[in-house]
Amino acid sequence: MITESRKKEIIQHAEEVFGRVEELQRLGLICDDGDFVPSVHYPPITEYPDCTPEEYLKDYVYPEDGFMDIYVHIPFCIQHCVFCHYPGKVGECNEEKEKYIGYLKREMDLYLERFGQKKLKPRSILLGGGTPTYLPPALFDEFLTILDDRIDYSACKQYNIDHDPNSLLGEDGLKRLQMMKDHGITRLTIGVQSFDENVLRLMNRPHDREMAIEAIKRAVDFGFDVNIEFIFGHPGETIDNWMEVIDLATQMPVGEIQMYRLKVQAYGDKQGAINKRHRGYEAGDIPDFKSTMMMKQAAIDILADNGYNENLRRVYTKDKRIFSHYAYNQCCNLYDQVGFGLTGFSSYHDRFDINSMYFDEYYRMIDEGRLPITRGYIRSEEEQIRQAIVLPLKNRSVIKNDFLKRTGHQFDEVFPEKTKLLKEYGLIEDNGRVVKLTEMGGFLADEVCEEYNSNSHKPFPRERYADGPLNPYKDNQIVI
Ligand SMILES: C[S@@+](CC[C@H](N)C(=O)[O-])C[C@H]1O[C@@H](n2cnc3c(N)ncnc32)[C@H](O)[C@@H]1O
Ligand code: SF4
Repeated sequence: MITESRKKEIIQHAEEVFGRVEELQRLGLICDDGDFVPSVHYPPITEYPDCTPEEYLKDYVYPEDGFMDIYVHIPFCIQHCVFCHYPGKVGECNEEKEKYIGYLKREMDLYLERFGQKKLKPRSILLGGGTPTYLPPALFDEFLTILDDRIDYSACKQYNIDHDPNSLLGEDGLKRLQMMKDHGITRLTIGVQSFDENVLRLMNRPHDREMAIEAIKRAVDFGFDVNIEFIFGHPGETIDNWMEVIDLATQMPVGEIQMYRLKVQAYGDKQGAINKRHRGYEAGDIPDFKSTMMMKQAAIDILADNGYNENLRRVYTKDKRIFSHYAYNQCCNLYDQVGFGLTGFSSYHDRFDINSMYFDEYYRMIDEGRLPITRGYIRSEEEQIRQAIVLPLKNRSVIKNDFLKRTGHQFDEVFPEKTKLLKEYGLIEDNGRVVKLTEMGGFLADEVCEEYNSNSHKPFPRERYADGPLNPYKDNQIVI
């Protein structure tokens, strides 16, 4: 348990770190109000033009090694959390769920046909959402069996699934846990979000603190690798109650703790309720930039005091060998991954697409025998190079040899000025073989990596950044 005197030290340290953040903001690294856009894909998902699946996939070449990682999206939840921007249906709606699983099966078959494969052979799988475990147990079992029939698991190193705690509780929760074991799932991510009762209520979460703890214990007792997720910077959170939350997180018997900074404006498909007056708080009650940054630094210190260090970006572990293979494969190895389901996204070696966000359209396209892709982006050579920096650098590191193999270019030659500046300001480090973010660079990972976004894909307009040397629009010409 954290002591009062340690708390004071941590707050003081967080103040100091924020001083450095402000300096970097004055140099142009961070936009005027401190807002951010997470670099989950490159270019950002919001920038993909409409497309038809036929045109978009026309010249796509399936990986020679035959591997294809898998994402499956289940867009159903008990209720809608105010911070969440994912479209989906809430409440039981079991008929819709059955219909959806039937279409998912057909979508997978369309892909198998398009790829010319009998089964897909992934290195890792993620079932996300939404809340896949909010399917009723019998339908959940059917869903996992549909996947079993279409997947060759022989090379699959990790099989992940996302949860809210609620769906792991009660008799149904026990049934689902057993089914996940039986179908070979290995790693459970549980969205705890907070252990503070008031914050959970403001978030409109379908569980309280005790339910979250019970769900974590059950998952651990079943022998799964468990990752728990939290959001900082949410209304109701203060540096004090947030420190208590993270301190309690470190006492859970889990291998991984993941933290997300609250994103107020949608960066995907649908704006959540968070930016409106809601549940007793005003939009203005969202913690300001300084408090949010201090929460982040305080959590990093508490996690480190308990032996947890950042392993993959935003994910803290005691053991370096534990991390999401799915995220690593997508963002660091840049391996091909196919996504199924409403808003399911696929990330291939040279392109990225996303499925329809509308149930009707998703069903209609499958009825027409078409893949339900409605937006897609095929990267130019320049965007390929930028992607091969932005995502690996943000999530772990750019290995220069891999970069050369992937792009045909030397890392040191493509952005000489920008890279030199980022090194001078202590944001990236280079041991000759590997380039990675420094501690400060990692603290501002999105902003530092977005320096390499092309000017047409920057998160904010040029005038929202100070006109300093780190203004991301400067020195951004690629040399190839
Ligand atoms: C797509 S959500 C699915 C999680 C799961 N259904 C649950 O209820 O916990 C994955 C994670 O993204 C994070 N997240 C969702 N919306 C966010 C937002 N607006 N800002 C920051 N993080 C967010 C949450 O921590 C969440 O656990
Ligand atoms: S956070 Fe999870 S449970 Fe909440 S609305 Fe989003 S996907 Fe559903």
